[in-house]
Amino acid sequence: METLPARRAGAQVLVLLAIIRFKFFHNISNVFSRLCVRADDHGAIESPSTIDHMLASRGYDRHLRPNFGGAPVVVRVSMSIASIDQVSEVNMDYMVTIFLRQYWQDNRLAFEDIDANLTLDGRLSDRLWVPDLFIPNSKQAFLHKVTVDNKLLRLHPDGTVLYGQRITAKVSCNMDLRNYPLDEQNCTLQYESYGYTTQDVLFLWKDGNASIHGLEDIEIAQFDIGGFTTSENHGYYETGEYPRLTFSFRLHRNVVFIILQTYVPAILLVISSWVSFFINPEAVPARVTLGITTVLTMTTLSSAAKESLPKISYIKAIDVYLAMCFFFVFAALLEYAIVNFSSVGIAKKQASLQGQQGQSECHVCRCHDVEARVGGLNGVSSQHTLRVDIVNEATQKEVTSHGPFLTSQPGFAETPRREDTGMDDGDDSKQRSTFAGAVSTMLHHLYGRRPQIKNSNNIDKYSRVMFPTLFIALNFVYWSVYMYRRHYFVF
Ligand SMILES: *[C@@H]1O[C@H](CO)[C@@H](O)[C@H](O)[C@H]1NC(C)=O
Ligand SMILES: *[C@@H]1O[C@H](CO)[C@@H](O)[C@H](O)[C@H]1NC(C)=O
Ligand SMILES: *[C@@H]1O[C@H](CO)[C@@H](O)[C@H](O)[C@H]1NC(C)=O
Repeated sequence: METLPARRAGAQVLVLLAIIRFKFFHNISNVFSRLCVRADDHGAIESPSTIDHMLASRGYDRHLRPNFGGAPVVVRVSMSIASIDQVSEVNMDYMVTIFLRQYWQDNRLAFEDIDANLTLDGRLSDRLWVPDLFIPNSKQAFLHKVTVDNKLLRLHPDGTVLYGQRITAKVSCNMDLRNYPLDEQNCTLQYESYGYTTQDVLFLWKDGNASIHGLEDIEIAQFDIGGFTTSENHGYYETGEYPRLTFSFRLHRNVVFIILQTYVPAILLVISSWVSFFINPEAVPARVTLGITTVLTMTTLSSAAKESLPKISYIKAIDVYLAMCFFFVFAALLEYAIVNFSSVGIAKKQASLQGQQGQSECHVCRCHDVEARVGGLNGVSSQHTLRVDIVNEATQKEVTSHGPFLTSQPGFAETPRREDTGMDDGDDSKQRSTFAGAVSTMLHHLYGRRPQIKNSNNIDKYSRVMFPTLFIALNFVYWSVYMYRRHYFVF
């Protein structure tokens, strides 16, 4: 019912086309011979109005595709890649500049009299039917217009049209950054017809893989191009099945840059944190400063490394490495905490041992003696005085030495001032002294049960060997795993 008028309209169009074709062949010889004569005479081809006239006289309608109503037009595509740059992990895209060439046959434009390929002004493409090719995975794209539209139009005697354009496009490329920076990416560039389904237009690569030119000469910062493929398939949408061309290429990341920028500084930081093991444990400011500085620098380094990457949820290879380095730097800081803590314990133990040797009594008893001797001092200050005595006896050092035991006692410096003020704490001082005695007894028992560390320097000695060994071993595991995943070796 409904198809009848449509069919009739189609038939009318075909009849119209037949008439146009007849007229076209009739006129073309005259037009082109005129063109040629003029070209020979004056060295220049007639103004576009001649072509307008020619097209009009042929009744050429650019709104109708070649072979309208018949078999689909075959559009063969080839391209030269001028540049690929700005490969961005954050935006997951890259910029590409291409010379795109499309070939198709339009019998309405065939001519017989001249054996020459006619190169015409690019602006003439506005008056001809051209394929509605677009780049489905582009985010932005533009044609170059300096100094004129960068277009090429060439007619061959058999009606084959060559249409060339220079395009710059920002094309999306989904990247899997799990192996970053030891990763490789597969980016694609797709062409598709915007409105014509496969019943009207077919896109084919002109010569398969050989349709892609200029990829060998491309230099991309941070990447090497490792092979490419071309394929022809279809895009399926609600409105139908559209012809699609796909060009995909592999990008192998050049790791040298990232190794120099991130990995080497991280390794050097870890190594510099080991310097702490070679410094005297009593040099508190030196070791604490070194530890904290390396931890902070490591934090800065890892946040700088993350700046050029998108905020993705999965863990990247670089995250693993930086976390490992952070762990080592932090462990070096903790190692000093342990060394300092155990050195206090050892000093106490040695002190109590010496006290037992000297008086065959526990140091708590000694504590009372000292307190009796000092007399007017309050509980807190007597404790400190006692400890200074013990330290002197135990380590044979001067009171002025800045050992961890002295500086770790906050009340020590205040002792003389309290003496001067002569404050009488009364019952409070007695309570505190008994409490302090109880605590020191408890600590004494606790230290007795601790694993025997004869000398806190031993921890440093072990660390000097253990840290580098473990770091080298973990590095070996890390690089083996990720190099294996990478499947290739490019530096
Ligand atoms: C026209 O172009 C075709 C295809 O590129 C080529 O084979 C042919 O030699 C050219 N003809 C002339 C006369 O240059
Ligand atoms: C060319 O195409 C074939 C398959 O069509 C593919 O195996 C090959 O990797 C492609 N690329 C090159 C550069 O030959
Ligand atoms: C890239 O991925 C596409 C689809 O996932 C695949 O068809 C193509 O072969 C891949 N290209 C390369 C060069 O590996």
